[in-house]
Amino acid sequence: TSHSTYDYIIVGSGTSGLVVANRLSEQKNTTVLVIEAGGSVYNNPNVTDTLGYGKAFDTDIDWAYKTTDQEYASGTQQTVRAGKALGGTSTINGMVYLRAQAAQIDAWETVGNKGWNWKNMLPYFKKSEQFQDPAQYPFLDGSGVAFDPAYHGFTGPLKLNDGLAQKLNATYQKLEVPVQYNPDPNGGDMVGYSLFPMTVHSELNIREDAARAFYYPYHNRTNLHVWLHTHANKITWKDGHNAVASGVEVTLSNGTTTVVKATREVILATGALKSPVLLELSGVGNPDILSKYKITTKINLPTVGENLQDQMNNGLQFDSKTSYYNKSADYVSYPSAAQLFPNSTAVGAELLRKLPAYAAQVASANGNITKARDLYHFFKIQWNLIFKYGIPVAEILLEPSGTMYDTEYWGSVPFSRGSIHLSSADPTAAAVIDPKYFMLDFDLHAQVQAARFIREVFKTKPFADMAGAETSPGLSTVAAGANDEGWADFIKDNFRSNFHPISTVAMMPKEIGGVVDSSLKVYGTSNVRVVDASVLPFQVCGHLQSTVYAVAELKREGSGY
Ligand code: FDA
Repeated sequence: TSHSTYDYIIVGSGTSGLVVANRLSEQKNTTVLVIEAGGSVYNNPNVTDTLGYGKAFDTDIDWAYKTTDQEYASGTQQTVRAGKALGGTSTINGMVYLRAQAAQIDAWETVGNKGWNWKNMLPYFKKSEQFQDPAQYPFLDGSGVAFDPAYHGFTGPLKLNDGLAQKLNATYQKLEVPVQYNPDPNGGDMVGYSLFPMTVHSELNIREDAARAFYYPYHNRTNLHVWLHTHANKITWKDGHNAVASGVEVTLSNGTTTVVKATREVILATGALKSPVLLELSGVGNPDILSKYKITTKINLPTVGENLQDQMNNGLQFDSKTSYYNKSADYVSYPSAAQLFPNSTAVGAELLRKLPAYAAQVASANGNITKARDLYHFFKIQWNLIFKYGIPVAEILLEPSGTMYDTEYWGSVPFSRGSIHLSSADPTAAAVIDPKYFMLDFDLHAQVQAARFIREVFKTKPFADMAGAETSPGLSTVAAGANDEGWADFIKDNFRSNFHPISTVAMMPKEIGGVVDSSLKVYGTSNVRVVDASVLPFQVCGHLQSTVYAVAELKREGSGY
């Protein structure tokens, strides 16, 4: 670690950062430094244990970011988790590997990101992937596990296995609007009921995080260095008018602050709740905000930190008539609007009428930094995805656990948007994170309707015969047939962040509020890129890691690989 100059400096060794570090350092003449605030978790059982979801929460490898009091929800703070370790959030996440609906990725191109569409990205989803055929692992209950080899990669670094199988199938077929079995939800069409792969090393039965896939097998590359327990404070700039990054100011594990130099690029991969703040600390952002903290504006880019989008996660619980031990089987269903809303056409028409007001409300909440005209355009695209292209409008996860059935659910594409901004010039200070959960009423309606859908599934045979009473919230708390109002308190008092924050450094044309261009370069700089979940312009229906890996893999202009 004696060097002080590298070709590329990658800030953040998480899900996206280690992919980029791996691909850049494949080229022997390229020197790469990765800066990471956390340490190695290679032998941390809270990480490696495939049944240990949640054990790492609130330990020293969880940033546990706090939001502001959420005025449209129950008025209290939320915790948004994120991994602080070599491997980033992939070391603490739920390991679910589910991509997006093809039309959602195509929408990225619709708003002006040339080349960002499902067809172009599919090879990069596959490039990372080492799908482990469940048939090779007889200790998995492979019954009913299906996948289409056309949509999977088998030689990439990231090992995936398939979950266990069981039959909810017959029940989903009997719903008023049946939900069909979808053998492979990773092929661009997610709608239906499915099993899904996880990022697990099947043979070793341990979590396959970004470090295990993209770093450890390559750690002896002499041109790839990682500095752990090192906090990045800001980007440093070359003298002169143009914004050319010269390196990164860091505080080392021994407490000293120093600058390390980059001859080619500085690449931010610190996640959606840190990269916008690092830009602001470096003088890239809204001058009105920066000047409050006496930070000189290097690039006037007021939408840094805007467009924050997350989802809201709730759960319903039921007794089970069977005991399930040592199983972590999860079943997912992705209903479309036509399957979720009994009166889908009317719901769509009403929402369409409200979109101009929604756009005005979001714009005014952020002082018109994002424009109502642009927001309306984005909302219309989202409306089309829901009501014309039939993307999944909710995700419902069902997990048998001991003597109960646990469910988790969320509306896939909430319309509410918030922001994140720095609160101090001190790089270690907490940021002001305000996702504005439930600001717009469609978001509550989708969340309520998903809960009603779950009650319906548990009432329908043959699955109904296996399930007992609803234990949470229970019919005494939320009566059968309750309207949205009747559900609101339970939902708003008990939801949590779905931990899918995105879009705070949005990839879009600058005229409509983008912060990075379609090569992921920050507008106004010649050599600063952002490659993490912050750049996703719109929420995806799957879980984020698959898309984050693919975004980092994608060859784009100047990617250097
Ligand atoms: P990521 O967070 O991976 O990396 C950022 C890195 O930067 C971290 O290592 C961090 O320590 C480092 N860093 C930050 N600030 C720094 C600084 N100033 N200096 C130095 N380093 C700094 N997705 C999915 O697909 N399936 C799932 O099951 C789940 N489940 C899930 C559960 C939980 C609890 C969470 C929190 C999230 C999920 N997700 C998920 C989401 C998914 O894991 C997540 O979106 C991606 O891993 C984010 O990848 P990034 O590269 O954007 O950031």
